[in-house]
Amino acid sequence: MTDKNITSLTIRQPDDWHLHLRDGDMLRAVLPETARHFGRAIIMPNLIPPVVTAEQAVAYRDRIMAALPQDSTFIPLMTLYLTEETDPDDVAAAHAEGIATAVKLYPAGATTNSASGVSDFNKVRHVLEKMAEIGMPLCVHGEVTNADVDIFDREAVFIDKVLKPLRKKVPDLKVVMEHITTQDAVDYVRDTPKNLAATITTHHLIINRNHILVGGIKPHYYCLPVAKRELHRVALVQAAISGDKRFFLGTDSAPHTDPAKLQACGCAGCFTATNTMSCLAEVFDAAGALPKLEAFSSLNGPRYYGLEPNARTITLTKGEPVSYPSAIPTPDGPVTVFNPGFDLHWSVQTN
Ligand code: NCD
Ligand code: ZN
Repeated sequence: MTDKNITSLTIRQPDDWHLHLRDGDMLRAVLPETARHFGRAIIMPNLIPPVVTAEQAVAYRDRIMAALPQDSTFIPLMTLYLTEETDPDDVAAAHAEGIATAVKLYPAGATTNSASGVSDFNKVRHVLEKMAEIGMPLCVHGEVTNADVDIFDREAVFIDKVLKPLRKKVPDLKVVMEHITTQDAVDYVRDTPKNLAATITTHHLIINRNHILVGGIKPHYYCLPVAKRELHRVALVQAAISGDKRFFLGTDSAPHTDPAKLQACGCAGCFTATNTMSCLAEVFDAAGALPKLEAFSSLNGPRYYGLEPNARTITLTKGEPVSYPSAIPTPDGPVTVFNPGFDLHWSVQTN
C-alpha cells in the first residue's frame, strides 16, 4: 500500500506541547476540546495575573483538574511564567516536586498578556543557569519586540539577537523554540545538534499571510507569531513531516471570544484544539507522509521532555468530510474554531 492509499492509521495518543486554556468560564468551555483527543498538554501561564510561582501553578492545575470532563485521563503539564523577579529556588522546587514541567519566556510585550515578561536577559541568567543544572526546559516565545523591527522579521531577528547569544551563555539549557513560523527557525534548529527543539502549530502548517490579508482581513487567522510567506509555510511542513526528532506539535490553540477578535484592535490567537488532529492528518496525507504523523504529534515531544509516549492510542479514519462545530459557546460569546479552508476527511477515535 502506498502512503497515498492509507485510509486508517492508529498512533499513540498525541500531546500538545503548547496550549492556552485560560481560566474560569473560558477554561471550562475549551478544556474538553483538548481533552477529547490529547493525552497531555503544556499549559501556557499567560493568565492575568500570570502564573509565576509554584504556588500559583498548583492552584491553576487544581482549577484545570476540576474543569475536566468526568473519566478524562488528560494530564496538564504546568509552566511558570519567567519574570525578572523569578526565584531560581522556587523554580527548582516546582520542578523537583513535579509541579512545573517547564518555564516560559515571553519577551516583554511580545504577545497577549506578556507585559510581565523579560526585558533584560541578564536579570534572568541565574534562573536559566539553575534550569540548565536541573534539566528543566525553557519554552521560548521567539520574537523581538523592538518597534523598529518589522513584525514579519521578528522571529528571524530574535534568533540572531537573543537566542544565539543566550544559548552561548547557557549552552546546557534545554530550549524549545515555540510556534516557529520561518525557514530561518527551521534551519537554526536543524543546524543545532543539542538542547534545541521547536514546536509547530497546526495553523502555521496550513495558512500563509495571504490567508490573513487577501480579499479582506480575516481576524480568525491573526495570531502571533503572525503567519509568514508561503515559502516559510512549506519549510514548516517539510520539518513537520521529516520525522526529525527536534520538531513536534504545539498547537498554540489560543481561545478568544469573537467579540474580542472582531474589533478595531482584535486579539491574536487561532483556536485549533477542536479539529487539530483531523487538520494534521489532512496535511500529512496531502504530503504523502502519514506514517510520519505519529512522530510529530505523539513521539518526538515526550522524547525531548524525557517522558514516555502515551500508552493509549487513537485511530484516524479517512472517509466522508467530518463536521466540527464552527464555534464553541462561552458565556462571553462564541470562540470560533479554526477553519482550515478545506474539507477534513479524517475522523478521530480514541481507543
Ligand atoms: C496567544 C494568546 O492569545 O495567549 N496568542 C497567539 O496569537 N498565539 C499568545 C501567544 O502564544 O503568543
Ligand atoms: Zn501561545
